[in-house]
Amino acid sequence: MHLINSILLFIFIFPFSSLARSWKPGDGCPEILVATVPGNRYRSEPQFDSMQSVHLALTSCPNITTLDLRVTWLGCSEAPDRWNLPFKLKGGDKYPPLKSLRLEGYYFDHREWEDAEFRNQGFGYPSFLEKWGSWIRTGNIWKAVQYSFMKPEQKNKTNLDLWLDAMDWSQLESLGLRGGHRSMDAFVEKVVPRLTSLSGLDMIDQAGNTTLQILKSLNNNSLKNLTWIGTWPSDVLPSILSLHGKSLQHLEVRSEEEMDVPTPVFNNSQLSLLSRLAPNLTHLSINIHRNGTWPIETFNAISAIPSLRTAEIWLDIVSECRRQWPEEYSRQYEQWVRLNQSCLGEDQYQKPFVDEKSSLELFKHMREEKVGEKLKSVKFWVGDHSRSWDGPIYLPTWIEGKRAEVMCSVESKRDDTEWCVGKGMGYWERSSGFLDDYEE
Ligand SMILES: *[C@@H]1O[C@H](CO)[C@@H](O)[C@H](O)[C@H]1NC(C)=O
Ligand SMILES: *[C@@H]1O[C@H](CO)[C@@H](O)[C@H](O)[C@H]1NC(C)=O
Ligand SMILES: *[C@@H]1O[C@H](CO)[C@@H](O)[C@H](O)[C@H]1NC(C)=O
Ligand SMILES: *[C@@H]1O[C@H](CO)[C@@H](O)[C@H](O)[C@H]1NC(C)=O
Ligand SMILES: *[C@@H]1O[C@H](CO)[C@@H](O)[C@H](O)[C@H]1NC(C)=O
Ligand SMILES: *[C@@H]1O[C@H](CO)[C@@H](O)[C@H](O)[C@H]1NC(C)=O
Ligand SMILES: *[C@@H]1O[C@H](CO)[C@@H](O)[C@H](O)[C@H]1NC(C)=O
Ligand SMILES: *[C@@H]1O[C@H](CO)[C@@H](O)[C@H](O)[C@H]1NC(C)=O
Ligand SMILES: *[C@@H]1O[C@H](CO)[C@@H](O)[C@H](O)[C@H]1NC(C)=O
Repeated sequence: MHLINSILLFIFIFPFSSLARSWKPGDGCPEILVATVPGNRYRSEPQFDSMQSVHLALTSCPNITTLDLRVTWLGCSEAPDRWNLPFKLKGGDKYPPLKSLRLEGYYFDHREWEDAEFRNQGFGYPSFLEKWGSWIRTGNIWKAVQYSFMKPEQKNKTNLDLWLDAMDWSQLESLGLRGGHRSMDAFVEKVVPRLTSLSGLDMIDQAGNTTLQILKSLNNNSLKNLTWIGTWPSDVLPSILSLHGKSLQHLEVRSEEEMDVPTPVFNNSQLSLLSRLAPNLTHLSINIHRNGTWPIETFNAISAIPSLRTAEIWLDIVSECRRQWPEEYSRQYEQWVRLNQSCLGEDQYQKPFVDEKSSLELFKHMREEKVGEKLKSVKFWVGDHSRSWDGPIYLPTWIEGKRAEVMCSVESKRDDTEWCVGKGMGYWERSSGFLDDYEE
């Protein structure tokens, strides 16, 4: 039995894992380097599947202009080789001056020599001798010896300091930071003042502080594109506009919908600031609430932005009463199932439902109300459009993957007629009466 298992394992795993190969300098240089580390081991072409291979490319390919790098746990067990790029602590690495940089899950604060130091914290297991053994086995002892000859300032450098030395940051035009769960203070302090060409910023920032700090540290009215997905102080829009309102062309400030709370929205007096303080704004992407009826005033506030040509509207999918359901499998839930089966079926979804017809009416209305430039397109997004989960096992919430979208546009070449095309229409009928949910 064991033997058969081993053979099966050999047959199924070996051929696939052997397909994957890390990129080497002979494989040809990309200009745009997109990598998820650890990579996809079922693909046969050479891959940027480790931080080591990404670093090798950046040090050997002078024509790379764009780096889009995600470091993550994949699936149940696949970990990256490390959470940052392996700069030499003694210095001397050289990267091309990137024009566009996107990082997700990157860890800037790491100090190489701290890893190499001998540590004898705590008593008991592992024993002092075992710690010594591992210090020698991992080669850290030799690193520690080398590092001991370095100047303290060099030895002390964080991964961020080493990247600062290796690259000219003043050429960077577009920066994206996503899912940074570590402190970004050093990044804001040391990198942002060097970003003198930056015109696009793309953040996923739940705490909000980092994004505001970056906006403040950049030259006023230097950003043309700002995407900020996450949460923010309720008065953030005036702050953004006073800092970068004059230059902004594309503005996306929104939250992803979660199961228990509605997304935050800007009120109409805040939205009206856009007409006054963002004279160059051509594209806007925000959350909007509806509760039984369409918020016509809000659509009018958007239509009143003279320079606006296109918009994206993000609409919640979960109804208020569905949010009030007791937590599944709790005692209240069982009681509720027996006594109070309200808010089932369609009622679990926000109304009015979004379909091609209702979207077309709204689009026409916005075009009629539009001040200044004509409105070319509006895209309506409903529900959860976030990236599907690819990490360790977890329990998805009801909202996950429940989504629809409608794109409304004008055919400008011919007679300027409006049309809307939907995806995932009828979402409120398709899924789940109450019983499906209960059995899940
Ligand atoms: C970089 O670009 C230059 C000019 O376009 C080209 O001559 C050179 O071969 C490129 N180098 C690599 C390594 O691709
Ligand atoms: C090392 O870095 C820490 C924190 O950034 C700083 O407080 C300290 O002064 C530095 N030491 C040297 C010798 O540069
Ligand atoms: C700004 O956004 C536009 C439209 O999405 C895009 O074409 C452009 O490259 C972006 N610029 C920067 C610097 O991000
Ligand atoms: C954000 O800033 C506020 C005040 O400026 C501070 O109280 C809070 O701790 C900060 N949060 C984080 C996550 O840094
Ligand atoms: C809009 O929201 C801001 C910030 O929360 C608040 O100060 C202001 O009073 C609100 N205005 C209206 C008309 O509700
Ligand atoms: C940038 O804008 C902010 C907010 O309007 C203002 O307080 C600050 O003085 C401006 N800085 C410069 C250098 O003009
Ligand atoms: C606004 O846009 C126009 C045309 O694109 C440009 O000439 C002008 O410099 C922009 N204003 C600012 C403050 O960036
Ligand atoms: C809908 O919104 C209006 C004002 O925007 C509010 O007065 C009303 O209570 C809301 N209705 C529900 C069911 O939440
Ligand atoms: C049943 O649900 C409705 C709507 O959610 C609520 O108004 C009512 O108070 C609930 N009744 C009980 C007994 O929980």
